[in-house]
Amino acid sequence: MNLKFAIALSGRGSNMLALHDVIAAMPDKASCVCVIADKDCLGLQKAKELGLDAHHVSYKELGKDAAEAQIIACLQEHQIDFLLLAGFMRILSPTFVDAFPQKIINIHPSLLPKYKGVGTHRRALDAGDTHHGATVHFVTAELDDGPILSQAAIPIQPDDTEDTLAARLLPAEHWLYQTVVNALITGDLAEENGTYQWKTAPHCELSDVIVTDCPIDR
Ligand code: GRF
Repeated sequence: MNLKFAIALSGRGSNMLALHDVIAAMPDKASCVCVIADKDCLGLQKAKELGLDAHHVSYKELGKDAAEAQIIACLQEHQIDFLLLAGFMRILSPTFVDAFPQKIINIHPSLLPKYKGVGTHRRALDAGDTHHGATVHFVTAELDDGPILSQAAIPIQPDDTEDTLAARLLPAEHWLYQTVVNALITGDLAEENGTYQWKTAPHCELSDVIVTDCPIDR
């Protein structure tokens, strides 16, 4: 079985690179069949440099409905198993989400259900939280709301700024998303009676990172 992944992004593409590493490491079990960007961004360039089938679908020129229709057609043509959102800054319509039930996965830089939407690092600092983190979850029609696959948390330091916190979280994000995708490929995270279950709970060796297969309450 070869799992087919697509990746969607809007920015610098560091999560896309991390995902590509894990998918490319198991070529007999998985492949990245296409990368889609909603703008002409650095991540799109990096995907092209890797030789991936990378497309710019311009929401600006096409409008949301036509852009989504083009992406849906591309994903259906490739018969993807999973679409990985990696910094894709568009909200998917219910039509899009319904076309791929339990197939669209997102990484969000907060410990959901805290801080849905944007400005998550600032909001965690303003709230005086002890920890911040990232969540990998299935996408549903509600923003940043679908079933959680895993979370990683890091401690907030007293002198943290929005930028230092984002920079310290990023390696944990990469590790977390790679761990989830690796587990999907190996079968360590698999569907059982309609929901995805871990066979072995994820464990992280990165210093200071707490990881779970369920929401972290901090
Ligand atoms: C990441 O922080 C991700 O959690 C958020 O957008 C950012 C994307 O960064 N959804 P990159 O483009 O993967 O470097």
